[in-house]
Amino acid sequence: MLQIVGPVLVMAAAIAVYKLCTVAYKELTSPIRALPGPKSRSWFFGSIREAFDGPPSASEWVNVYGTTFQFKGPFNFARLWTIDPKAQSHVLMRNDIYERPMPAREALSRIVGPGVLVTEGEMHRKQRRVMNPAFGPAQIRDLTDIFVYNMIQLRDLWASEANRQGGTGRIDVLSWLGRMTLDVIGLAGFNYTFDALNENATPNELSQAFSTIFHSGTNNRTVMVLRVISPVFRYLRTSRDAVAEQAQVVMGRIGRELLNSSKAAVAQSEKEIGDRSLRSRNLLSLLVRANTAAGIPESHRLQDEDVLARSYFPVAFTPSTSHYAHAEIPTFLVAGHETTSTATTWALFALAQESVMQTKLREELWSVETDTPTMDELNALPYLDRVVRETLRVHSPVPAIGRVATVDDEIPLSQPVTDVYGNIHHSIRIQKGQNVMIPISALNLYKPIWGEDAEQFKPDRWLSPPQASSAIPGVWSNQMTFLGGPRACIGYRFSLVEMKALLFVLIRSFTFELAVPASEIIKKASIVQRPLLKSNPEAGNVLPMLIKPYTRV
Ligand code: HEM
Ligand SMILES: *[C@@H]1O[C@H](CO)[C@@H](O)[C@H](O)[C@H]1NC(C)=O
Ligand SMILES: *[C@@H]1O[C@H](CO)[C@@H](O)[C@H](O)[C@H]1NC(C)=O
Ligand SMILES: *[C@@H]1O[C@H](CO)[C@@H](O)[C@H](O)[C@H]1NC(C)=O
Repeated sequence: MLQIVGPVLVMAAAIAVYKLCTVAYKELTSPIRALPGPKSRSWFFGSIREAFDGPPSASEWVNVYGTTFQFKGPFNFARLWTIDPKAQSHVLMRNDIYERPMPAREALSRIVGPGVLVTEGEMHRKQRRVMNPAFGPAQIRDLTDIFVYNMIQLRDLWASEANRQGGTGRIDVLSWLGRMTLDVIGLAGFNYTFDALNENATPNELSQAFSTIFHSGTNNRTVMVLRVISPVFRYLRTSRDAVAEQAQVVMGRIGRELLNSSKAAVAQSEKEIGDRSLRSRNLLSLLVRANTAAGIPESHRLQDEDVLARSYFPVAFTPSTSHYAHAEIPTFLVAGHETTSTATTWALFALAQESVMQTKLREELWSVETDTPTMDELNALPYLDRVVRETLRVHSPVPAIGRVATVDDEIPLSQPVTDVYGNIHHSIRIQKGQNVMIPISALNLYKPIWGEDAEQFKPDRWLSPPQASSAIPGVWSNQMTFLGGPRACIGYRFSLVEMKALLFVLIRSFTFELAVPASEIIKKASIVQRPLLKSNPEAGNVLPMLIKPYTRV
C-alpha cells in the first residue's frame, strides 16, 4: 500500500508546485503589474476593501493614478481598475469574456439560486430574453398604482408617527423605506404580501427566510478570501450554513407555491377571457406569460431542467429548485429592494440639506391635481426627473462591481497610460483569471467629465449634461449607476418609477430635515452604499430625520 501512496503523494506535490509556479509566473509577468497604483494595505486582503468603498478613497486614487491603474487584491495579486469609458465599454459589452467573479457568483447563488443575477453565457442570454419584456415601459406603467398605494400607506403611518411625537417626528428614514420597498417588490414583483410596514404583524415566513439567507454568507472574510484561492475551500462550511440551508428550503417552497399559483392564474385568464397579452400586475406572472407566449421558438423557452443544471456551482449545499422562475423571486428581492430604498434615502438626505431645492420640488409636485399619479404624470415632472438623476449620480447605490477575464484579452483605452517603466500603452493586456474593477461612483463623480463641482448635488446640471458624459457606456442617463451592456440592470425603469412615486408622495406631504449634522453621516458600502453615523457606527445603517407634515394652504 505504502509503495503506491508515496509516489502518488510525490506526484500530487509536484503538480501542486508546478501549478503554483505557473500561477506565480503568470502573475509576475502580467502587464497589469507594470501599471502604477496604490500601495497594498495587507498581503492577505490587498486593497480590496478600499476598492469597493467608493468615495472618498476611490476618487482619491483617480486623482493620483489617473483613469487606469492597478490595485492589489487578495495575496497582492494585481487587479485592473479603470474608469476609462472605452475600457469599461469593452468589458461590459464583451460579457462572453468578462464574467462575474466566482466568489461573488457563488455567494449570490447561495441566496438566489440560478436566477438571472448569477447565470452566465447562453443560460443568461436565454433568461434575459424571456425577462426583458416584463420590464418594458408598458409593463411598468401597469405597476405604478401598486407603488402609489404603498406610499400612501407609508405617508399615513408617518403622519400619525409625527402626530404621536407632538408634531415633528424623528424617524429612521432608511429602515422605513427599506420595509416599504420590500412590500412593493413583494406585490409588484411576485404577488406576495409581506406586510412589512405593519409593525404589529410578525415578520412572515418569506421575509424571515430571506433575511436569514441574506445575512448568512458574507461575514467571514477569511473564508471569503480562501474561497477566492481555490474551489476546494468552497466546501468550508461556516456555522451559518446550516441555518441558511433551512431558510433556503422555506424560500424554495414558497417560491414554488407562488410560481404555481401564478401559472394557474395566467392559464385561467387565457382560458376564460382569452387574454394572451403581456399584461399583468406583477413581474412573475409577466415572466410566466412571456415564457409561454405563442410564437417564440421552443428553444428560447426556459425549461424546468435549466435550473437543475446547477452542477457548476460547487457549493457545499444544494438548495432545492424546480423551476427557473422561482429563482427570480429571491433575485428580485436581492436586486430590487435595498437598492431602491437606499437611493430614495439618499435623495431625502440631499434634499434635507437644500431647502430651496426641496421647496422647488414640492411646488412642482403640487402642480399635479391628484394624490395618485400615473407613470406618465410622474414622468412629465421635469424637476422631479432631474432630482432623481442627480441623486443616482451622486449617491450611486452600487458603488462598484467586479469582473473576471475568462480568456486572455486586450482592453482598448481611450486615454493611454504610462507604466512605471515609462512605456505608453494604448491598450492593456489582461490574462485569463485576472480581475477588472468597474468603479461606478468614481466615474459618476469624475471631475474631468462632470466639472469641479462633480461631487455636489446640483439637479440643474441635467438641463444640459456635459458633452463628455455621453461617452459613459451606461444604460441610463449618461451614468454608470445601472451599469451598461447585456448585463445592465434589468429593473431600472421599475426603480425609477418607484423612486418618483415615493418622492412624489413624501415631498408633497412632509418637510424634511436631518436630525443630526450632515457631517455626522458617512457612506458605508458592502454591496450597497448606505448611510451610517460617524459617531456611532455600531448602531448600523441609519438615517435619522425630522419630518413635519406639510399642509397646503
Ligand atoms: C436604484 C435602484 C437600483 C440600482 C442602483 C441597481 C443597480 C444594478 C447594477 C449596478 C446591476 C449590475 C450588477 C452586476 O452585474 O454586477 C444590476 C443588475 C440587476 N438588477 Fe438592478 N438596480 C436597481 C434596482 C433594481 C430593481 C428594482 C430590480 C428588479 C425589480 C433590479 C433587478 C436587477 C437584476 C435582475 C439584475 C441582474 C441583471 C443581469 O445580470 O442580467 N434592479 N442592478
Ligand atoms: C471563519 O470560518 C473559519 C472556518 O469555518 C473559522 O475557523 C473562523 O473562526 C471563522 N472566523 C470568524 C471571524 O468567524
Ligand atoms: C402545483 O400545482 C399542481 C396542480 O396544478 C399540483 O399538483 C402541485 O402539487 C402544486 N405544487 C406545489 C408545490 O404547490
Ligand atoms: C395574486 O394573488 C391572489 C391571492 O393572494 C390571487 O387571487 C390572484 O389571482 C393573484 N394574481 C395574479 C396575477 O397572479
